[in-house]
Amino acid sequence: MKVTKLICIFLIVFIYALTLSAQNLPINSDVENKIETLLHQMALAEKIGQLHQVSGITNEYRQQIREGKIGSLLNVRGAKTSNELQKIAVEQSRLKIPLIIGNDVIHGYRTIYPIPLAEAASWDPKLVEKTSAMAAKEAAASGTHWTFAPMVDIARDPRWGRIAEGSGEDHYLGSVLAAAKVRGFQGTDLKDPLTIVACPKHYVAYGAAQGGRDYNTVDIAINTLREIYLPSFKAAIDAGAGTIMSAFNEINGVPASANPFTLTQVLRNEWSFNGFVVSDWNSIGELLNHGIGATPADVGKKALLAGVDMDMMGFVYINNLADLVQQGQIEEKRIDEAVRRVLRIKFQLGLFDHPYVDPQLEDSLILHKNHLSLALESAQKSIVLLKNDKNLLPLSKNIKSVAVIGPLADSRYDPLGCWHCEGKAKDIVTVLEGIKTKISPEKVHYVKGCEINSQSTDGFSEAIQIANMADAVVVVVGESAAMSGEAASRASLDLPGNQMELVKAIFETRKPIVVVLMNGRPLSIPWIAEHIPVILETWFLGIQHGNAVADVLFGDVNPGGKLTVTFPRTVGQVPIYYNHKNTGRPPSDEKFTSKYMDVPFTPLYPFGYGLSLTKFKFSDLKVSTENTGQSTKINASVGVQNVGDRVGDEVVQLYVQDVVASMTRPVKELKRFQRITLKPSEKKRVEFQLDANELGFYNQNMEYIVEPGNFKIWIGPNSVEGLEGSFEITDVRRD
Ligand code: NOJ
Repeated sequence: MKVTKLICIFLIVFIYALTLSAQNLPINSDVENKIETLLHQMALAEKIGQLHQVSGITNEYRQQIREGKIGSLLNVRGAKTSNELQKIAVEQSRLKIPLIIGNDVIHGYRTIYPIPLAEAASWDPKLVEKTSAMAAKEAAASGTHWTFAPMVDIARDPRWGRIAEGSGEDHYLGSVLAAAKVRGFQGTDLKDPLTIVACPKHYVAYGAAQGGRDYNTVDIAINTLREIYLPSFKAAIDAGAGTIMSAFNEINGVPASANPFTLTQVLRNEWSFNGFVVSDWNSIGELLNHGIGATPADVGKKALLAGVDMDMMGFVYINNLADLVQQGQIEEKRIDEAVRRVLRIKFQLGLFDHPYVDPQLEDSLILHKNHLSLALESAQKSIVLLKNDKNLLPLSKNIKSVAVIGPLADSRYDPLGCWHCEGKAKDIVTVLEGIKTKISPEKVHYVKGCEINSQSTDGFSEAIQIANMADAVVVVVGESAAMSGEAASRASLDLPGNQMELVKAIFETRKPIVVVLMNGRPLSIPWIAEHIPVILETWFLGIQHGNAVADVLFGDVNPGGKLTVTFPRTVGQVPIYYNHKNTGRPPSDEKFTSKYMDVPFTPLYPFGYGLSLTKFKFSDLKVSTENTGQSTKINASVGVQNVGDRVGDEVVQLYVQDVVASMTRPVKELKRFQRITLKPSEKKRVEFQLDANELGFYNQNMEYIVEPGNFKIWIGPNSVEGLEGSFEITDVRRD
C-alpha cells in the first residue's frame, strides 16, 4: 500500500476516533483501522452487499454471498447451517467478510421463557437479564449472532397484538427492562462466543398505531414521543445495544424508516449512537405505499439519507444504491458510513477472528437443565393473582378430585406464545400435566369443553358433568398464541368464541372455581371478575407453563407478579392507562365531567396490580430532599411488613406527580420499584432515591426542563393504592 494511502487511512481513523470517543459502544482504534483498510479494498457493489439482508437460504443467495453481495441473513438457524454459510463468506468471497446472522430471539431460543409482557409482570430486572443471557447462550451456540430484540415499544392499546412482545404501558419500567435485556443478550463483551448483539425495536412509536391496528398511522405530539416512546430506546442504547430497527409506521407524516428526525437528529446527534440501523422487513420498500417516493430508487435514497444502514428483505438498496451513486444522487461516502457501522459490529462480535461455532456446544446447551430451571422460575414470577376470594387458593394437595376444563388446559402449543423461535410444542408442560404431576393423575379429570374460537357448545355437558363430580374446578381459557404478536390486532378484548359461555355454565355448578387465563394482552372480563372467586393471569409462560401454574394453584409458590398494563372493563375504554392527564373536568359523580355514561371510568384492574397469598402492610412513609451541590436528591422510604402467614413477594412502587407545571403533567408517574420477599411478620424499610433531574418534561420549545414546585409522592402496592406524601423542589438546573 502506498504511504499516502496509509496516511490517509490513519487520518480518517483518527478523526473518526475523535468524533466517536464519547459514544455508547466502545470504539477501538485498532478496529477502526481494520475497517478503513477493508473499506478501501471494497468495490461499490461489495459495500452495498454489506447493507443487504435476506431471509432464509437458497443457492442463488449462496452465490451472492460468494460474490460479496449479501452481508447478512435472517431466519437461518443451527450451528451446521450457520457454519456452512459462514464458510462461503469467509473462505470463498473475495474479501472474506463474515456474515452477521440475525434471528427473532424474543423470549428464548429453544428453551422458551414467558412472553415479554408476562415477564415484565415479574418486575424483576435481574431475572429478565438472566433469561436474556440464557437465550443468548443457546442462540449463539446455534450460530445466531444478533437478535431482533428487545422489543421496547410502549403500548397503551391492548387491541394491538404486539403488546405481547413488550413490557407494557409504562416507559420507566420499559426502560429498566430494556436495559436489562440488552445487558443480558450482550454480556460485557460481544466477543464472548455466548453473547449476541441486541436490536431494540421498533424505532419508534410503533405501539401508538391508531385504533391498535398493526402497522397503522401514528400521529402523536412530539413531547409525547420524547417523554413516552423514546426513553426505552434511549435506555437500550445507553446499555450498549449495538443495533436498532427502524419501524413500519409513520410518525406524524414521516415514515419511521425514512425519518431524519428520529434516525439522525435524535439517534445519532443527541444520543451518539454508533451502531447500525436495520430496517424492519421491507419497511424501505413499503415507503412506496406510504407514498413518500415514486420509485424504489427514490425511497432507497430517502431511507439511506435518513439513517437506515441495512435493508432487511426490501431489495431496495441492492437494486438501486449503485445507480444512485453513479448518477450523483448519493455520495459514496454516505454508503461508506453505513458500511463502517455494519463492519464495526462484525468486528465487535469477533466474527473476523472466530466466524464458526461449535456444533457440540450447541447440543450441550440447548434445553440445558439450568435453562429449564430458569424458565420455571421466570414462569412462576410472571403469574399475576387477580382475585382470591375467601382464600380459596391455595388448593389442598389432599383434594380428592379436580376437574380441569377449557380449550387451553392441555394446549401443547399456545404456551409458547408469539415469536417462539426454535421453541417446540413437545417441550411444553401443559396446565393439565402440571396439575397431574402435582397431585397424582387419578385425581384429575379433564374435558376440553370447547375450542378457543368456536360457537359450538357440544363439549359443555361433559364439562359440566366432570365439574359436578369434582371438589374444585380449574377452567383454563383465553387466547391462542396466534391471537397476539405481529398482525394480530383484535377489535374485541373479550374471550374469543364461546369460552365465556363455558365459564358461565361451569359457574352454575356452584363448585369452587379457579379461572386460569392464558393470553397475550389484557382481556375485558368484568363478568369473571365479579363472579369467579379466583382468577390467575398466566399469559403465555413458555415451556414450564403447566408446572408454574400448578405450583401456584397448590401453594408451592406464592404469586407476586403485578400487571404492567391496565385491564379495561370493556374495549370502549381504550386507550386507558394509569399515567393519563387530569383534564379540566376530572371524572366524578357530577354530570359534566370526563367519563362514560355506560361504564365506570376506572379500569377493571389497574397498572401495577396483583395479589399475593399473604398480606402486606405499608406504613411510615418518609420523604426528604437534600441538595448535594450538584443536584437535588429526593429520599423516600416506607416500611413494608408481611402480615400474613406465608412467605411472599411484594412489588413496592413509587409514583410521583408534578402538581403545578407550565405544561400539564400526568396524574401519576412510576419512578422507582423494588420486588422484595418477606417472611411472615418480617418487616423491611424499602428506600429509594430520585434525582430532581428525573422529574422534568419537555416544554413547548422541546427543551427538557425541571420546574421548581410541589410534588406528590406515593409508595404502595399498585398505581391506585399507597401512602401519600409530598416534597418541594426549590433548586433546579437545566440539563
Ligand atoms: C417483522 C417484525 O416486525 C420484526 O419485529 C421482526 O424482527 C422482523 N419481521 C424479522 O422477523
